[in-house]
Amino acid sequence: MMSRRNILAGLVSAAALLASRASIAAGVLPDTVDDKLEWDDCLARMKALANRFATGRIGQNDMERAGLRLISRLDINAASFERAVATSYESGNLFWLWQRMTKSVRMDGGILNIDDRQMIPLHDHPGATGMVRIISGEAEVWKLERVDADRGRPGKAQLEVLFRGILRPGDTATVTPENGNIHALRSVSKECRMLDFFIPPFDRASLLFFAPDDKNWFGKQQISCRAIPRTRFTRS
Ligand SMILES: [Fe+2]
Repeated sequence: MMSRRNILAGLVSAAALLASRASIAAGVLPDTVDDKLEWDDCLARMKALANRFATGRIGQNDMERAGLRLISRLDINAASFERAVATSYESGNLFWLWQRMTKSVRMDGGILNIDDRQMIPLHDHPGATGMVRIISGEAEVWKLERVDADRGRPGKAQLEVLFRGILRPGDTATVTPENGNIHALRSVSKECRMLDFFIPPFDRASLLFFAPDDKNWFGKQQISCRAIPRTRFTRS
């Protein structure tokens, strides 16, 4: 026989289910649970988030928090995610392989693949908020900000390290337009794969690489370097 407590619990869950269905029917994506998301659902929510941000309906901090939460909830072991990865558009360069999974004027997303043979040098993503989740492997990450007066311009630059640490599977991190947009990373495992979303996409034309004066800059707090436009940067 059902106890009074069980009946009450049943009523509460039925009401919650109805509320959830009602919000879906009304076109509002419920975001109050921490269950896993299939790729299509996660992508739809990320697009909605990018639209809300572009139209000023959500601020920078709330957008970052919501984005990180969504990519944390993505079920990377689901068949839907594997299919999306398998049909991604691949491109790359000396430093990484990029598997593009979505691209629009308000958001880019995909998987960044790096390995232990090549470090990704210091660079920025002008105007973009980047949200990352490690899928496999481990990466050492530096996050920095530019403290000289010529921010955004090529030439002499002074950087300050805000964060240095190892990211492991499931860990998330952000780069933001106003603070800590410059970063470098290297795989400390043979390979490292990470899910990456940019809201909005960064401006490739104004991307800068930063070449440190001291090649052994890794443990420093302040780094003097030259800021070099992407098209003129070569590995030294
Ligand atoms: Fe980057």
